[in-house]
Amino acid sequence: MTGNGLFPLTSEHEMIRQAARDFAQKEIAPIAAEFDETGDFPSATIRKMGEMGFMGIEVPEEYGGAGMDAMAYVLALEEICKVDAAHGTIMSVNNSLFCHGILKFGSEMQKQKYMGAVASGSVIGAYSLTEPMSGSDAGTMRSRAVRDGDDYVLNGRKSWVTSGPVAKYIVVFMMTQPEKKHRGVTAFIVDTSRPGFGVGKKEPKLGIRASATSEIVFEDYRLPVEDRLGEEGEGFKIAMVVLDAGRIGIAAQALGIAEAAYEASLAYAREREAFGQKIGEFQGISFKLADMKTRIEASRLLVYNAALAKERSKQTGERYTLEASMAKLFASETAMFVTHAAVQIHGGMGYSKELPVERYFRDAKITEIYEGTSEIQRLVISRAELGLR
Ligand code: CAA
Repeated sequence: MTGNGLFPLTSEHEMIRQAARDFAQKEIAPIAAEFDETGDFPSATIRKMGEMGFMGIEVPEEYGGAGMDAMAYVLALEEICKVDAAHGTIMSVNNSLFCHGILKFGSEMQKQKYMGAVASGSVIGAYSLTEPMSGSDAGTMRSRAVRDGDDYVLNGRKSWVTSGPVAKYIVVFMMTQPEKKHRGVTAFIVDTSRPGFGVGKKEPKLGIRASATSEIVFEDYRLPVEDRLGEEGEGFKIAMVVLDAGRIGIAAQALGIAEAAYEASLAYAREREAFGQKIGEFQGISFKLADMKTRIEASRLLVYNAALAKERSKQTGERYTLEASMAKLFASETAMFVTHAAVQIHGGMGYSKELPVERYFRDAKITEIYEGTSEIQRLVISRAELGLR
């Protein structure tokens, strides 16, 4: 066992962390700036990440995954995001929002047919809850799925779908009984190659630009009943349970971004000189570094704690909503704090595209927004503490 004391790591954990670190340095670091600039989807590196087992880390080997635990997942994701958060987003959605949902709620047929291909990285998986008029208030969606014999017919427009333009399979949430509000939501596994599915407007984004985000459109899209995930009306709960897992992924992503920005700042403060001394010797810079480091280590504790809670839940079935939301809230706000300070410490060079620091700053912002804004995390945490839900 190794690790940082509070969180002992096994040799398997060390191995995947090192493998992800090496892979990110060798394969992603040389292309990250270029793909950020063009916004192109990095298919080749994502395919290789599948071969490395990074696209289905917690999926059992019999279904094409790496068969590892929740801690292995956050360690690998943190390392990928330390080099490029866009690759991390694609990895996170594939692992937590697609594979985790099918593993937890899918039938044996669904696990074999859909999860295997996604976990091994041969195709990409996505998750679609949000709509143009339904974001934080996720229970108010308008798109409709209507039962027709042994099929459902899906119509509507979903938005902000990570990997929407490139995914082969998407877990999609639609209303089957609008009068029941959130209890009328049902989940489906959509095969994007069937007629009636279309990719809508692509989102031009501030950060994580190499990840593809778009609307998806359904026009009389027909799928068989066996492609429904869970029971009719169970969709909202499935969406929430899956987001608990997803939020730990985003927290690990935020941790990785913050670490990258901090390490760059530390190195710069040691070498850059002004007024006859290293800038790190000025209290204005050194105290910033102290705050950055402290918040990063606090984030790490929350992220690893949430990963352990998720792992325990596989045995006990207990929810880890609180641990996941606290980790996401704190780690994402830390990523913003740290990357903001990193740009400031680097001065003009922090604002220049010659260094990755400005990219870290742009990439950090989304972690406070997607998979539940910071305001939603505060709502979830306070409701849990006050016993309101
Ligand atoms: N686990 C299990 N059940 C849960 C749950 C959880 N984590 N959270 C809520 N539920 C259940 C409740 O127990 C309740 O059950 P009953 O019907 O039996 O009463 C039901 O779900 C409704 O819960 P609430 O009354 O709390 O629902 P609400 O409407 O007040 O709001 C919310 C809940 C937390 C605000 C929720 O709407 C939410 O998380 N909103 C944010 C949505 C979000 O994160 N969207 C991001 C989408 S993904 C993305 O960003 C794109 C991408 O591709 C990455």
